[in-house]
Amino acid sequence: LNDSLGLTPHLGWSSWNVAQCDAASEKYALETANKFIELGLKDVGYEYVNIDDCWSTRERDESGNLVPDPSKWPNGIKAVVDQIHDMGLKFGLYGCAGELTCASFPGSWGHEIQDAELIASWGVDFWKHDNCFTPCTSEPFPQTCWEGSIDTRPWYGTMRDAILSVKDSKEMLFNLCNWGRNEVWTWGYDYGHSWRIEGDNWGDWESVVRIGAKASEIPEYSGPGGFNDLDMLFVGNGVLTEPQERLHFGLWAIAKSPLVIGADLNALPESSLKILSNKDIIDVNQDPLGIAAGIFQPPNAPGPVRGEIYPYWAGPLSDGVVIGLVSANRAGTLSVNFADVPGLEGGSYNWKELYTGEEGTGESISFNVAENDIAIVKVTTS
Ligand code: DGJ
Repeated sequence: LNDSLGLTPHLGWSSWNVAQCDAASEKYALETANKFIELGLKDVGYEYVNIDDCWSTRERDESGNLVPDPSKWPNGIKAVVDQIHDMGLKFGLYGCAGELTCASFPGSWGHEIQDAELIASWGVDFWKHDNCFTPCTSEPFPQTCWEGSIDTRPWYGTMRDAILSVKDSKEMLFNLCNWGRNEVWTWGYDYGHSWRIEGDNWGDWESVVRIGAKASEIPEYSGPGGFNDLDMLFVGNGVLTEPQERLHFGLWAIAKSPLVIGADLNALPESSLKILSNKDIIDVNQDPLGIAAGIFQPPNAPGPVRGEIYPYWAGPLSDGVVIGLVSANRAGTLSVNFADVPGLEGGSYNWKELYTGEEGTGESISFNVAENDIAIVKVTTS
């Protein structure tokens, strides 16, 4: 959205990948906020503590308002938001364009303004809008309206307008969770600050490949105020290997996705914390240019294959270029001459590999990249 919010991708945590419905509670929200500080995650930029589906009761109250489930939110939501704000952090919440959320809690359909007023009164800083139980032509509100021809835009326009109409001077980010339908990247900027480009990240390697491959097709649609959202991370959940976690995080970062931790911060492995708090890589993600890295084909390299993650990535930074060298489903030596990299000319440059810290100067780079790992090289031009 052209409202000077979300000029870089948002950094935070979400409850969903941690324990789905069970993590949508005050306990998780406050523990996470405390861990942001204790683990140094706040210092490197993580800010949003986001609660996903299942935070409300199954019914609205007699005035039609959403009600925080008292067993999960014994003090209500506003008290928690206030505490999180006092810690210098932000709070995000989830809703759905349809009659019900994907987990069958009340959705915002027909209640958009009322819900926007309520969440604004709680001080909510981020709203994710899902797309279950939305209207279909064949059936009024099926769990998922998969009709290819259905236009998901109006579902998001209504909530955008509701939020804009009540937010006054408040700064609420709006995330379109429409799973890439209707090529959301081509119109998302007029509707929200970030949009999901694909179905869920299920935490398996196939999801990382599917979403990473998709991102390589559409980098040009990301920019300040509107970013491709590759979905929440599975780093620290014990489901990916350490190289896979490096690749997952690194690719999301250079593709300028929001970086939203999906792990239980009470049980985060040291190796995952190291990946998630790599300040050099976060700085690339947060570079003010906000331009996503895309793929490029060096001379003699085979071309991209649909659905696979291509090995060669590059994107501009305000003071250089970031190069990603990816070995998805293979190991090998990946080399590039800077003269072949978009945004660089021939000649010698200073570079740094951002996971190992190795530095050098020269006209090319060459790295042995382990299977399903990534090298991220920042080349400095100024
Ligand atoms: C589907 C979304 O894509 C997920 O990110 C998550 O929000 C679930 N719905 C919650 O039900």
